[in-house]
Amino acid sequence: MGLGDHLRQQLAAKALKRQLERVSEEADTPGVPLPAAGAGAARDAARDAARAELCRFESMPGYQQVEILRQMGDTLRVQSPFFRVHEGVAGATTRIGGVEYLNYANYNYLGMAGDPRVCERAKEAIDRYGTSASASRMVAGERPVQRELEAALATFYEVDDCVVFVSGHATNVTVIGSLFGPGDLIVHDSLAHNSIVQGAQLSGAKRLSFPHNDWQALDALLARVRHDYRRVLIAIEGLYSMDGDIPELAQFVDIKRRHAAFLMVDEAHSLGVLGERGKGVREHCDVASGDVDIWMGTLSKTLAGCGGFIAGSQALIDILRHLAPGFLYSVGLAPALAAAALAALECMAAEPERVTRLRARGQQFLDEARAAGFDTGKSAGYAVIPIITGSTLKAAQWANAMFADGINVQPIFYPAVEEKAARLRFFICSTHEPEQISRTIAALKRLPR
Ligand SMILES: Cc1ncc(COP(=O)(O)O)c(C=O)c1O
Repeated sequence: MGLGDHLRQQLAAKALKRQLERVSEEADTPGVPLPAAGAGAARDAARDAARAELCRFESMPGYQQVEILRQMGDTLRVQSPFFRVHEGVAGATTRIGGVEYLNYANYNYLGMAGDPRVCERAKEAIDRYGTSASASRMVAGERPVQRELEAALATFYEVDDCVVFVSGHATNVTVIGSLFGPGDLIVHDSLAHNSIVQGAQLSGAKRLSFPHNDWQALDALLARVRHDYRRVLIAIEGLYSMDGDIPELAQFVDIKRRHAAFLMVDEAHSLGVLGERGKGVREHCDVASGDVDIWMGTLSKTLAGCGGFIAGSQALIDILRHLAPGFLYSVGLAPALAAAALAALECMAAEPERVTRLRARGQQFLDEARAAGFDTGKSAGYAVIPIITGSTLKAAQWANAMFADGINVQPIFYPAVEEKAARLRFFICSTHEPEQISRTIAALKRLPR
């Protein structure tokens, strides 16, 4: 492609991005009221036409956002990297369109989703209980494997009890959304997962965020506003999924004590990843389990299943088991998924070398990427390592070029992150071989920078 073409392409992409920003803003702005009825036939007709237009999905800002992103892909001549179809178990490698790829686009951190022992336990659960729990556990009853998983997770977290939900996202939404309400305050890290933000919005509590991992800013914020609220929840993550960095947990525990707040830690990406035995951020930071009020995690990542859980005190779990709408009014976790997660948890405990291997692979990736001059942001070198490209265009082009080179990695760009923070995001598994990681860095080095 000539320099003129390249420039034209960049300008067109920039114009589309501005359009996208405008539409995204519109999506967050309350609508303009329709013309009032009853002031003449012409006015009524205008109101009816405006209503009809608003009741087309194509007029919704969301549809326009999707369309603009599609046009951006066409303009940049990049194939969409999303919704690729995998033809087998996706781990360190995967098969897409009949071709074997090195894979950095999933959370199968310890290689358990596909482990024969885990699959066998899921199959046994299907043979015994069928494929679905079919109704809410409160009304339709339990399957022993659901309780066994909860008991194992409670032991793992060294807390009184645990409750499992059918989705990790729904766990945060329903738990935060139902425990807190008007008059309360929810303060979360500025990079907190969408499910935390959605839960906070649902609750009706006041929602504030503090700059990423900045516990001093949180401390100052609470010193200013704590007295205005009844209950306060501080919500953070054990390992951040965009940047791969870790909070100073002991500082957050100290703050929650001094300001009389609850502390919730989302361990989606830290369970099985941080700590010698994969016990998560508390093991990594040497903090006692009881210093955190709400341990949240997902079954979909290290634990090779699908679902979410909350582990904590008996009072917390009693409330959730009897009142959290996402538990009470939703089906029980499918027995096969509970069995898979339980088997994965047991395998992890029996084989801590998987965790050690993951750490070594992550560190290798980080060291080699840095030595090659790539910007890896604040990544601590565990399971999540970004290669920051600095622009959407470069992220999309690099992801495409890597795919052509046999490596599946997802680009992340605006609006998921700021334009200057656009990146390729690598998820590392314990099953990646050192040679595969070196091959990946060599492929990155071949990209036009
Ligand atoms: C931090 C965090 N919390 C919660 C979730 C939701 O979990 P799930 O995908 O299992 O629903 C995710 C998903 O990636 C996550 O990254």
